[in-house]
Amino acid sequence: MSASLATVSYIGATILFILSLGGLSNQETARRGNLYGMLGMALAVLATVFGPQVTAAGIPWIIGAMVLGGAIGLYAARTVQMTQMPELVALMHSMVGMAAVLVGYATYVDPEATKGVEGAAHTIHAMEIYIGIFIGAITFSGSVAAFGKLSGRIGGNPLLLPARHWMNLAGLLAVIYFGRLFLQAETIEQGMFPLFVMTAIALLFGIHMVMAIGGADMPVVVSMLNSYSGWAAAATGFMLSNDLLIVTGALVGSSGAILSYIMCNAMNRSFISVIAGGFGTTAAAPKAAGGEAEPVGEVNPILAAETAELLREAKHVIIVPGYGMAVAQAQHTVFEITKLLREKGVNVRFGIHPVAGRMPGHMNVLLAEARVPYDIVFEMDELNDDFPDTDVAIVIGANDIVNPAAQDDPTSPIAGMPVLEVWKARTSIVMKRSMASGYAGVDNPLFYKDNNRMLFGDAKKMLDEVLVALKI
Ligand code: TAP
Repeated sequence: MSASLATVSYIGATILFILSLGGLSNQETARRGNLYGMLGMALAVLATVFGPQVTAAGIPWIIGAMVLGGAIGLYAARTVQMTQMPELVALMHSMVGMAAVLVGYATYVDPEATKGVEGAAHTIHAMEIYIGIFIGAITFSGSVAAFGKLSGRIGGNPLLLPARHWMNLAGLLAVIYFGRLFLQAETIEQGMFPLFVMTAIALLFGIHMVMAIGGADMPVVVSMLNSYSGWAAAATGFMLSNDLLIVTGALVGSSGAILSYIMCNAMNRSFISVIAGGFGTTAAAPKAAGGEAEPVGEVNPILAAETAELLREAKHVIIVPGYGMAVAQAQHTVFEITKLLREKGVNVRFGIHPVAGRMPGHMNVLLAEARVPYDIVFEMDELNDDFPDTDVAIVIGANDIVNPAAQDDPTSPIAGMPVLEVWKARTSIVMKRSMASGYAGVDNPLFYKDNNRMLFGDAKKMLDEVLVALKI
């Protein structure tokens, strides 16, 4: 393939990636967005493999690596549970980081890469390598630590070393110092030592940064690492003089940063306080997630048949799904119930919190899978004012996102997080298996409110019973 054809293909791939991001911003166009992304990636890979930078001798190696990597990716995608997606995503980010580190070292030791490059151009090239390896190593080790936390292999509590901010600052100064040594090195051998030391510091820095962040902030961390992986890819693009990789990396880096910002807003956390870590360690700190925050008060249980009765009499119903709906895989039964109620003339809508579940868009994906029409699925802000006019609000396996303590209790670890105000409905019904707390590990005063009922049991099982009762 000629260089100009490869450039045209790269521009085509870039446009497809931008269209893909645009498509993914809306549920109705998300499928199309995915398709654009896949086409863009296929075009990018073909233009690179058959482009001028790859020699014929390299092609079998590339194909071999693609078959191996593709097989592992396919296996992972087919076997991963929806609830394990954030872990998988974290692991994938670590691969991007590792690739940036390896490409950095390979470029540095490759005499071809710097042939004829001298003066300022040489310094810029060396800086690209140094910064690329730095970002890549942080992304790699930070993502591995995030994987460990999300999969429960490492505890969720923030690790707060004494003087940790000073340690980070000292690390950063050391990275700058060794960077200077690296740029001054006259031979590859001389440059290797500062490069190794910086890589070790960056690896420790990535682990330390993620370990200091509490469980409740992990969603932001995953999206932040997504952003880092984009910048690592862009740095790799600079090292390899590959324009498409630079553009794609920048797209991933900036969209990840915007997503992190949106998620911080959704959880009422400032980006800086997330990065600084330590959230969830105050006096009112929660117990471990999924765990044992002490219930404080009496609750009113309800049976599935009574729930069906309330729904049958209702005119306006809002369903708030959460992580438990994903665990129970109850979305199809939810849709059956929705269909039945709508046929009876009940106005049924869904309220989606931006961080419901365990990954951005988690609930939207499940509802789309169950074929719930998009026009009855609303974001939190779109229907939070409608709860006072709602007869029944059903909370399916959600907890933190409907916790009134976020508004009422300034000492609560989730104070200030916007929540769906289900308690303002005439009756709210919470479907969960026990009184256990949610991800943030805090008790939920909603459960004890007079107008709230608790439907205890697995969400799928309970909803099946409600469906049967509704059909009678
Ligand atoms: P959570 O607060 O985690 O509550 C989920 C509830 O579902 C639990 O209290 C659990 O109670 C219940 N549950 C679990 N399995 C169930 C089943 N089979 N049937 C019925 N109920 C079941 O979830 P949420 O309200 O969706 O809030 C999300 C939380 O996760 C937030 O704190 C958010 O910050 C965090 N987070 C979000 C993300 C993203 S990006 N969405 C990523 C990571 C973390 P029982 O055990 O009593 O059943």
